[in-house]
Amino acid sequence: MTKGGAQDRLKPEFGSATNSYEKHTMCYRHEGPTPFRPSMPCLVKYKSIVRKDFFGDLPGVVGVHGEPWREFRSRVQKPVLQLSTVKRYVTPLEEVTKDFLERCEQLLDDKSELPHDFDNEIHKWSLECIGRVALDTRLGCLEPNLAPDSEPQLIINAAKHALRNVAILELKMPFWRYFPTPLWTKYVNNMNFFVEICMKYIQNATERMKSGGGGSVMEEPSLLERVLKAENNEKLACIMALDLILVGIDTISMAVCSILYQIATRPVEQEKLHEEIRRVFPDPSEPITYQHLDKLIYLKAFIKEVFRVYSTVIGNGRTLQEDAVICGYRIPRGVQMVFPTIVTGNMEEYVSDSNAFRPDRWLKANQGGFEGKLHPFASLPYGYGARMCLGRRFADLEMQILLAKLLRSYKLEYHHKPLKYAVTFMYAPDGELKFKMTKRNS
Ligand code: HEM
Repeated sequence: MTKGGAQDRLKPEFGSATNSYEKHTMCYRHEGPTPFRPSMPCLVKYKSIVRKDFFGDLPGVVGVHGEPWREFRSRVQKPVLQLSTVKRYVTPLEEVTKDFLERCEQLLDDKSELPHDFDNEIHKWSLECIGRVALDTRLGCLEPNLAPDSEPQLIINAAKHALRNVAILELKMPFWRYFPTPLWTKYVNNMNFFVEICMKYIQNATERMKSGGGGSVMEEPSLLERVLKAENNEKLACIMALDLILVGIDTISMAVCSILYQIATRPVEQEKLHEEIRRVFPDPSEPITYQHLDKLIYLKAFIKEVFRVYSTVIGNGRTLQEDAVICGYRIPRGVQMVFPTIVTGNMEEYVSDSNAFRPDRWLKANQGGFEGKLHPFASLPYGYGARMCLGRRFADLEMQILLAKLLRSYKLEYHHKPLKYAVTFMYAPDGELKFKMTKRNS
């Protein structure tokens, strides 16, 4: 489905009342302490039935609801979202990104273009980032010439299959709900493999902590060490890591595909981005710090504008936990509400000059911002409230580091047929991302 198509198909359901937008706002504001987001039925079955032995009463946050969700989220939320934890990952994620850019250079053809399956490379980068964050390790996914039976290659395959299988299992006839189809069995084996990998690295982290010195090369404890110290529970740490990995690879990979395509096809904005990054990093070899990233205001505004116009996650949902009266409509408990941020973000009623791609709408007036209408609920790429994206701070950090390093030293172009966006399981450019990547002199 194309962008216009996505908007048109979604609009009638949400736009039937003139104040559809107020419905979203009110629904979000009345979602209560344990918001219910219907999602991932395969994962729900895997966690609550197939591997109930492992997941038990505290099965994580993804596909989990009510009290078990609240309990788990409250145990891990602080370390995952704490700014001091997130800041610890600037250098480790910069190292991952440096390796990724070196790999990109090696992949360039004689026209300085990246390969047709460059999106796979972006997936490997995001896998390597999430391994560093959630498992305290370098998985090795960016190594060249991986042997087919090497652990990193098996992890890459598992991540790819997990994604494809879920799309087929959940979007086509769900026979797997009634009997174990071959695809379902493959899905279960994949998930078991992920659980095994997570457990292995969590046990390694525990061993390092036991042998003294916290194990990690960083001064402050890592995310995993914080959770292990606070909870003294390897299984809980493993389930947290698994949830972060399961939703933290494709979302960010697809977002990066979309952002890079917008950068490559918007030379004027790309020069502005480069100018800002060069001002903040006069010396491209200077290590990145959180203070540097704070100054990249146009870069952050650009990312937000891509999300407004081309929201990677096209919408969000909630199942009402109690009867509610919203904008004069009585809506019974159990009704599923869907909030299409891809539609509301592009509606003139909520965003001035909504058809124009204007990163400056996200800047403050004293930063040269465009002072039009921009309702705070119009574009919610990370969701809202108590259930809002748990990995959003890491997602922002990973994207900012990648763009800062890439655009400081390289120019990105795209010289092929314009790509349309399509809704598959997410919203991203549909086609080969054969970017031309050339080194800058300054
Ligand atoms: C640009 C990339 C990303 C986007 C656009 C995104 C978007 C979202 C959205 C819309 C939700 C649902 C929120 C709600 O119900 O209100 C969500 C949930 C979640 N996200 Fe992200 N996400 C991204 C990256 C990540 C990353 C990198 C991680 C892990 C490090 C992550 C971990 C999670 C988790 C664990 C949840 C479930 C939270 C819960 O149900 O309590 N996300 N994300």
